Amino acid sequence: MMEQAQCAAEVYVERTLALIKPDAIENANEIEEIILRSGFTILQRRKVVLSPELCSDIYAAHYGKMFFPSLTAFMSSGPTVAMIIARHQAVAYWRELIGPADSVKAKETHPGSLRALYGTDELRNAVHGSETTSAAEREIRFIFPDATADPIPSGQDAVTYLSKFVNPTLLSGLSELCKRKPTDPITWLASWLIANNPNKPKIREDLIKEPENL
Ligand code: TYD
Ligand code: MG
Repeated sequence: MMEQAQCAAEVYVERTLALIKPDAIENANEIEEIILRSGFTILQRRKVVLSPELCSDIYAAHYGKMFFPSLTAFMSSGPTVAMIIARHQAVAYWRELIGPADSVKAKETHPGSLRALYGTDELRNAVHGSETTSAAEREIRFIFPDATADPIPSGQDAVTYLSKFVNPTLLSGLSELCKRKPTDPITWLASWLIANNPNKPKIREDLIKEPENL
């Protein structure tokens, strides 16, 4: 039971939308490196100039606020790098990494955050992150309409998938690995998995004949 709970925690992969806004486009490579170093996988990436209409849709919750017109104007003022990024607790972790909305305040309270490092003020704050998993799915659909709803199984689905298709083979491979203690265990396990892949087509040995005249 304990093992299964641990496994569930480790395989729970969530995705979120990350935007590198027009004011930080020069730093896009650096920000992407930080994303990767922070344990995210970049599932999809597009560099786009967002239309004011699309920005209004993405920020619809702020419609009517004083800053709304300047926000949509700024967001559509130049290229943006949009990415679907994934890891365990992606939404919360990415929000933590970007820091508070106002870059001036972020420099005081969260000096290591991306908004402190790359943003300027409360409007030009370098990066965007969805606030909840449902907001993430909604925002991803706006920018990546072809992305399937949830390509990565999560929670119980992931546990079921792994325990059915991966764990039995992996367990016997790991047991064998512990018995043998090879000097390069990773390469050894990789070869073992290829040799013992249960999905490999079965070839009946008696049907394979050596060519006679070679
Ligand atoms: P908000 O959803 O509050 O912040 P976050 O981006 O962290 O989810 O606001 C959306 C964007 O609107 C924010 O990134 C920058 C802009 N904004 C302003 O220009 N002025 C403001 O006073 C606020 C609150 C936000
Ligand atoms: Mg927000």
